[in-house]
Amino acid sequence: MINTQILKEGFAKYFGSAEPLFFTAPGRINIIGEHTDYNGGFVLPASIDKAITIAIRANSSDTVNLVAIDKDYEKCSFNIGGEKPERMWACYFYGVIEEMKELGGNPGGFDAIFGGDVPLGAGMSSSAALESCAGTALNSIFKLGFSKEELAKIGQMTEHHYIGVRCGIMDQFASLFGQKGHVVRLDCRSLEYTIVPFNPKGIRVVLIDTMVKHKLASSEYNVRRAQCEEGVAVIKKYRPEVELLRDVTMEELESHKSEINPVSYKRCAFVINENKRLMAACDAMAKDDFVEVGKQIYATHDGLSKQYGVSCDELDFIVEVAHTHPGVLGARMMGGGFGGCVIALVKENEADTYIEDVKKKYTAKFNIDPRVIEVEISDGARQC
Ligand code: GLA
Repeated sequence: MINTQILKEGFAKYFGSAEPLFFTAPGRINIIGEHTDYNGGFVLPASIDKAITIAIRANSSDTVNLVAIDKDYEKCSFNIGGEKPERMWACYFYGVIEEMKELGGNPGGFDAIFGGDVPLGAGMSSSAALESCAGTALNSIFKLGFSKEELAKIGQMTEHHYIGVRCGIMDQFASLFGQKGHVVRLDCRSLEYTIVPFNPKGIRVVLIDTMVKHKLASSEYNVRRAQCEEGVAVIKKYRPEVELLRDVTMEELESHKSEINPVSYKRCAFVINENKRLMAACDAMAKDDFVEVGKQIYATHDGLSKQYGVSCDELDFIVEVAHTHPGVLGARMMGGGFGGCVIALVKENEADTYIEDVKKKYTAKFNIDPRVIEVEISDGARQC
């Protein structure tokens, strides 16, 4: 988390001496359950100690004045109810405000400065952290009374309507509901969730950032979602109650294979199997069987790469190197894909050897230094 002193000084410099309030919302990791959220399936994310933090104060006007520390203290102002701002980063605030209004909330103008340490483009949901941070802050300073679940939906709809990504709810939910030392097992259809302790003994969660972000990320994300919906539309002809892939079995999909476009079929098969893998991983976790959890994680990568088509050479390579290290129990790309990072469960005493090896080989092959990101599972969005 960024030092609040930096925010305090920045706030005083840009907005004068009155005391702001501070709010923070974290990024997330996800153990397993990828691309299942918008299909009504299950996910297993956790909030981390990398967050977006804001210093904010209501200004008794209709104007929002923002300063983005991580954009070299770039400034942007807009009027509530006015034109969408030009700066993409300011659209997250604009979107959150508009979505709050849509639900009957009425935030006023404010002055704010924000910054963070969620690695950008690493698949750790810096944008959900920003939405959850803005949502939590506005909810509190304007006493809007939204629940955390509503704030998660506000963040998700901000992505849909103002950023152009038809994302699921995992990232915003994790950022708002996460708890230190726990993962959130979330049913993305009912939004029922269980907070599960996550403290595998002798195992380290290692994140290796490819440092690449392919341009396709958001457009292909929406394409994947549409391909899943295409599969559902076919099944729905026979079972009209089916709304989401979550309700379709592999047998059912198989029996309509000839009616579904082959690419969409592959995408749907991945999602159905991914839900099963998550269940298997949760059962194994309950028995402290992290060898089995690791196997499911490896299988997820295989599916994301070959069936779902959201991996890339750089991610595949890091996972391939993992397979040559018996100390790595499982490794896979994490998040939406097309770049970002690999998450691996590695035996504590073999983690450094794997990291050194993968760094050396990755740099030799791609001429890029990968970034190793240390994370701790920490609390979700809050005033600080
Ligand atoms: C992105 C989206 C999430 C989810 C993941 C893939 O992070 O924001 O909603 O779909 O990709 O699991």
